[in-house]
Amino acid sequence: MAGRYGPEICYNLPPKIMCGIVGYVGRAEAAPILLDGLRRLEYRGYDSAGVAIVNGKQIETRKCAGRIANLAKLMTEKPPSGQYGISHTRWATHGKVTDENAHPHFDQSGKIALVHNGVIENYAALREQLEREGGHQFTSDTDTEVLAHLIGSIYEQIDGADSKARLVNATRAALKQVIGTYGIALVHSDIKEFMIGARRGSPLVLGVGKDENFLASDVSAIVAHTRDAVYLNDFDIVAVSRDKFEISSVAGESGNYQISKVEFGAEDVSKGDFPHYMLKEIFEQPNSVRDAMRGRLNTEECTAKLGGLNMTAGELRDVSRVVLTGCGTALHAALVGEYLIEQLANIPVEVEYASEFRHRNTPMSGNTLVFAISQSGETADTLGALRESQRKGFRTLGICNNVASTIARESDGGVYMHAGPEIGVAATKSFTSQVTILALIGLLLGRMRHLSSSQGSRIIEALEALPEQIESVLKLSEQIRSIAKKYVEAEGMLFFGRQFNFPVALEGALKMKEITYLFAEGHPSAELKHGIIALVRPDLPSIFVAPDDAVFCKNRNNIEQVKARKGPIIVLTSGDGAKQLKGIANDIIEIPRAPEFATPVLTAIPLQLFAYHVAVELGCDVDKPRNLAKSVTVE
Ligand code: M6R
Repeated sequence: MAGRYGPEICYNLPPKIMCGIVGYVGRAEAAPILLDGLRRLEYRGYDSAGVAIVNGKQIETRKCAGRIANLAKLMTEKPPSGQYGISHTRWATHGKVTDENAHPHFDQSGKIALVHNGVIENYAALREQLEREGGHQFTSDTDTEVLAHLIGSIYEQIDGADSKARLVNATRAALKQVIGTYGIALVHSDIKEFMIGARRGSPLVLGVGKDENFLASDVSAIVAHTRDAVYLNDFDIVAVSRDKFEISSVAGESGNYQISKVEFGAEDVSKGDFPHYMLKEIFEQPNSVRDAMRGRLNTEECTAKLGGLNMTAGELRDVSRVVLTGCGTALHAALVGEYLIEQLANIPVEVEYASEFRHRNTPMSGNTLVFAISQSGETADTLGALRESQRKGFRTLGICNNVASTIARESDGGVYMHAGPEIGVAATKSFTSQVTILALIGLLLGRMRHLSSSQGSRIIEALEALPEQIESVLKLSEQIRSIAKKYVEAEGMLFFGRQFNFPVALEGALKMKEITYLFAEGHPSAELKHGIIALVRPDLPSIFVAPDDAVFCKNRNNIEQVKARKGPIIVLTSGDGAKQLKGIANDIIEIPRAPEFATPVLTAIPLQLFAYHVAVELGCDVDKPRNLAKSVTVE
């Protein structure tokens, strides 16, 4: 079906990939630049990696299955030389992880090398046509190789003295035949100091340097070299030389572009003194939460200022229903948002898994406001939900971290998290930023309705207190590490919470399972007696998120129920909670007291630390857990 966004994207073809691309053309040796860029993109996938660097009229290729460390070893043993080239790190959802399927891939002549992030849906038909009509032979199972052959075949067939223009035209003509998604970079061994990039549905950024230019799936790969970036639009083709670039569209029109300054620098994408990105990002939360609020609190009128929503006061007042959608951690933040917006603004809120929302016929009224929440801004399911919502005519806003990401650009407005790059695959600071922003939205909508100025003022005070309270929560890291050591032998863990902290229990369980591979489940505390209690046994710890709030006594009852069945108990509490649970809980983690609506920002952090320390004790690869990728651009 051809709609506003072109042919419908379906991802049911092997192999499915979401990957990282880096390209360079300049005066320096390309190899270290490409390798360093790939290392910074490894969070996007780590099944195989490769480079193609042009040396004179030869393309030197190194590629192999496995992590970038394997590629680095290969490149040390046989260093490729040249001042321009392309590179790739791959994440496969299915399809084999082999050296042959690693990118770059080549056309029939072997002169065009291409890397690709996305899926060419009609690759089988194109491949069959190339084999039948041109006798093409393929060396991999990938759709990417078909695209390289298609471009090469068109390049051979068209005339033109200017080989650069000829290659751009061949790329354009090939992309016109493609159904699917792509972020690509390619070089031709006969065309000196030149590369081409193009995108549709997969991100691609042009980095503009001095006498050098870059292509990358994400600016973090190139900020060490330049902070001037052009975020390419879908259907853009960019022809890149050392000293210039030209952007046009697949349709052949010359493209508009804007050079943006990247907000962060190389130091923000390094681990600094931390052993893992995840730990660094956990410890960044006093600042990331502060940055989520910066300039957005109006203490005079006791409300929030969110100009990026692009909505008038009248339009905001007319909102009668809110739908929050996202995946994984973002979905858990949305669940906190449901409690927040309903309590602060008294507007009915529904939370929908983006993957379900996009395929179901959710009844929605005219004044429904939809939020698509996504750290990366590239998650395929959330993007699908955003497009579906817009297709049905609903105003759809984004809450994203990555500036100029697809969700940020396609939404009708939104709020940036300003959390800085989140590189650890396990989302941490993005969760607390999302919750903070949802609190701001609740405050804004609430102050336009029943919320008094003194209530608004108390909410602002509580929000402003958060960064300092987070500092004191972070001081618990050592205590949490010793608790983690005690439970490292456990076969699984259960997480419980009520009200605002029920989603935090879900998030704690998600953190635990994704980085430790332990079986972990999150539930509302009261659900224990409806079945889960059958799991309770002396070797299965239960973690209760039970701050000193209106439902503390109810939580305590559930804690007693576990205790009666000899289940080990770890409690996260505040205020009087510790006193009341002494002798009942095996371990107590005390956090600062805060109003109920603000507690998830404080309770989530000890659970991030707990999962982190268990994972380290178990020797797991914290930043790159098995089978996962940071940015899930497939369904
Ligand atoms: O980039 P997004 O926020 O859209 O990502 C959504 C999920 O894929 C993400 O939160 C995932 O669940 C994390 N690995 C959780 O730690």
